[in-house]
Amino acid sequence: MSQQIRLYYKNGTADAIGLEHGLIRDELAQYEDQIARIIDEQNHLANTGKLPYRKLPYDSAMLETARTLACDLHARCRNFVVLGIGGSALGNIALQTALSHPYYNLLDDEKRPGPRLFVMDNVDPVQFGALLDLLEPELDATVFNVISKSGQTAETAAQFLVIRNLLSKKFGKDSLRKHVVVTTDPAGGAMRDVADHDNLCTLEVPPGVGGRFSVLSHVGLLSASICDIDTEQLMAGARDMDDRLNTPDLWKNPAAIYALIQFLFYQKGKHISVMFPYSYQLKDLSDWYRQLWAESLGKAQTLDGKTMHIGPTPVKALGTTDQHSQVQLYREGLNDKVFTFLQVRHFDAPCSIPPELSDADAFHYLGNKSFAQLINAEKVATEYALVASQRPCLTVQFPQINPYTVGQFIYLFEVATSIMGTLFNINAYDQPAVELGKKATFALMGRKGHEDLAKDLTAFAEIDNDFLV
Ligand code: PA5
Repeated sequence: MSQQIRLYYKNGTADAIGLEHGLIRDELAQYEDQIARIIDEQNHLANTGKLPYRKLPYDSAMLETARTLACDLHARCRNFVVLGIGGSALGNIALQTALSHPYYNLLDDEKRPGPRLFVMDNVDPVQFGALLDLLEPELDATVFNVISKSGQTAETAAQFLVIRNLLSKKFGKDSLRKHVVVTTDPAGGAMRDVADHDNLCTLEVPPGVGGRFSVLSHVGLLSASICDIDTEQLMAGARDMDDRLNTPDLWKNPAAIYALIQFLFYQKGKHISVMFPYSYQLKDLSDWYRQLWAESLGKAQTLDGKTMHIGPTPVKALGTTDQHSQVQLYREGLNDKVFTFLQVRHFDAPCSIPPELSDADAFHYLGNKSFAQLINAEKVATEYALVASQRPCLTVQFPQINPYTVGQFIYLFEVATSIMGTLFNINAYDQPAVELGKKATFALMGRKGHEDLAKDLTAFAEIDNDFLV
């Protein structure tokens, strides 16, 4: 079986859903030259080091460092805790859900191929407190991986301060190096300063690689390696996808086709993009995609300074679960969405339905069928129903879920995001709108240099009882 993931887009075309809502080949063909220019330009940027995320799959030294460190940590830790948020957490979660046992943390120590993994991407006091309580008796066998590219995100810094204090008190300051790995910018940022001061073990987020494009760097590779995910295959998948995406030929380039279709539907008023995996293992890749798409493409200004307020809204759904909560809206609500199904051809678990009791009329059809058949039948059925309502549907077909196919998927969507950014004529790599919220948090929490904003916020945060019911 070929292990290439493929994009199927017929159900987004007029052939399938009619002229009013579907795309015709000519509409796509008009962009052939522009796409070729975009691909050539992006290849050039990648080859001259100006689009550094594109080179991550080729960085064997980086991969080796992560694997060697994971090996060392593996021998002495039962719990591995990632402290990070956004791009410093979502990729780790996605890789773990996709490529480890669905109940990995609940497996017995002998059956689990690595330490238990916790990714703490919030500062909810109850959740964080509960995790610390859980880990307290095993703190000596716990390693924390603090991940922050900027080194100044309040949530991650707060978590870091708590565990630093906890570990220092319990084992002494000198023990910190044994329990903490900091993944951050190689040169700048407060986290780098503290890590150097404490003589902590550090890994690097490569310069120029934004958080949401960093899963194939040390950000995602250490936790994946320590959980025994085959990171070499993950990178091989990304590299092989890179080969496919180098071509300027629109019709042969799945990232270009995907980006262009999404772009054209956006122009036609379909502003919501739903990712709909029919696989539990792929569900957190939707979360990862949601950040990638939203932070990269949701922009107020074009590159030439025009105010535009652009950006498709990414939504995640899970098959078959959300058939029973969302599909009513998806079929009969506004026709303003594009659906991307993720379908798995071969599931690794045989789980089948016994014939017993299938003589009961209502259940007869299920006897001797597999769960894989059922979930895939439901995918086709849902797509059929959406197409019947002229809703555009695309499918990314996974022959199987494994590190090689997941590596392809990650890279495909990263490059598609870059191409969409260029089609929209926006900067896909910054996130200016996130910064104001970060600054406001600093101001509310009393950080020096934010006094003026703090004054504004004091008035803003006051509750006006006229509006309180
Ligand atoms: O994609 C991004 O740049 C953001 O989502 C960041 O990953 C997120 O804000 C966390 O930032 P940092 O890694 O600097 O702590």
